[in-house]
Amino acid sequence: MKQVKAYPAAITIFGAKGDLTKRKLIPALYNLFTDHHLPAAFNIYCVDFLEVDENEFRKDMLAGINEFSRSGTAEEVKWNEFAARLFYVQGDFLKKETYTALDERLKAFEKQNEQNSTRIFYFATAPRFIEIISEALYKNNLCNRDGLDRIVIEKPFGTDLESAKKLNRFLGKRFSEKQIYRIDHYLGKEAVQNIMAFRFANYVFEPLWNRKYIDHIQISVTEQVGVGKRGGYYDSSGALRDMIQNHLLQLLCIVGMECPKAYKSEVIRDAKTKVMKSVKAYTTPQVFKNVVRGQYTAGSINNMPRPAYRKEEQVQSGSNTETFVAAKLFIDNERWKGVPFFMRTGKSLPAQSSVIVVQFKDTPHKIFKDDIVPNRLIISIQPELEISLLFESKVPGLQMKLKPVEMDFTYKESYTETIPEAYEALLLDVLHGDATLFMRADQIEAAWKVVMPIIEAWEKYPEKELHMYKAGSCGPTASGALLKPFAKEWYELPFTKTEKAIPNLKSL
Ligand code: BG6
Repeated sequence: MKQVKAYPAAITIFGAKGDLTKRKLIPALYNLFTDHHLPAAFNIYCVDFLEVDENEFRKDMLAGINEFSRSGTAEEVKWNEFAARLFYVQGDFLKKETYTALDERLKAFEKQNEQNSTRIFYFATAPRFIEIISEALYKNNLCNRDGLDRIVIEKPFGTDLESAKKLNRFLGKRFSEKQIYRIDHYLGKEAVQNIMAFRFANYVFEPLWNRKYIDHIQISVTEQVGVGKRGGYYDSSGALRDMIQNHLLQLLCIVGMECPKAYKSEVIRDAKTKVMKSVKAYTTPQVFKNVVRGQYTAGSINNMPRPAYRKEEQVQSGSNTETFVAAKLFIDNERWKGVPFFMRTGKSLPAQSSVIVVQFKDTPHKIFKDDIVPNRLIISIQPELEISLLFESKVPGLQMKLKPVEMDFTYKESYTETIPEAYEALLLDVLHGDATLFMRADQIEAAWKVVMPIIEAWEKYPEKELHMYKAGSCGPTASGALLKPFAKEWYELPFTKTEKAIPNLKSL
């Protein structure tokens, strides 16, 4: 368990009235508090421009905890203690008064504790406010102590390589890299953090983890949700920017990175950045051969009708924005040369599921009559947290008949510990000044470099090869074609899996 930090913590959240604050940040901070991970002295200042009564704001946050927290309904006594440290600061992000008021609050808190505090400034705002708030924090000297003051930036970090570089430069002039925490919440997920433990604490897999034994890797992040109320943001983003540029490429880095020299933030981030920089960039014709985009049309999910993407709130009626992407990528280095990394993600699919499948090569020498299913390592990140290994086994009986079976590790069966939410892990790391699970400037730029040729090709040919798929289906069939030259298929996700396809599978 991480140590409770001695310094008091002053946590400021810009964007108090946003969804992220209510659904994720406050429930995460509340759980950290009840699990005794926060320092004894802490205050949370939630800033937004609306006039809101502080008690009403607290009630709204309590409703957020009751609805979204992993720990369920808040306990009255604990909540009252927590609520006494939760404040609403009304203020316009554009006005100096907001920062003056905040400065007074922070100074008063530090005076009351008779010592400095770790100051965290969390930008849970629309991206357009990042520079504005940063500049104000800088000019008003609110965040200038290198070792104590930190800013936390949500994605999207830029909208392309140029804007990400510009933002990095802008922030770099005002804060040290050590003070900047760029969030990708996938990195805080328990099962994602476990991939490093799995790879680097189990020597048995290391000799196999390369092009000699691995045939290909699949990374799938499917979502049942549509764009909901986020149409305005999503329509100018799309699945490539929203999911591939960050979450899926981060997963690729963890699976593909070399073993770092030590479990140290910068060493790990170096290793991840190195592999990101080795992802092969495509030319425009290569983009259309190796990347498939799709958009959902009207359909139904769980017997509930789902409108076509183009009919969703705040989405342009003729929009060509992709709600599904499948891509085949290669890492140009000695370990991975020639091994395809297939990734796919989409909205309005039959279920939510994030799975990494490492498919090993066929046995070179076949001595059995039965077809042999190659070994597969399946890392399930959500909804279930599991790792399983698929291998062939003799069916009991008088004949030599084979059938694939699975060896499973499930969190449910192996641990009684609570699984923290990604935001709990990440917020605690920010408090501890541990940037291991955050993206560094160079890594984020390297990720943009991977997706830029795709963005550019699609911008040049906006209608070319936009494959429609029905909401509730498994995405455009064209995505299957990506794997065909390799005579492979997408791994059947839990929601499409049948007993027949992979015998003896436990239902996930
Ligand atoms: C966010 C995306 O970063 O991740 C959303 O902006 C997406 O569009 C979400 O729904 C998925 O996260 P999770 O944790 O639900 O898989």
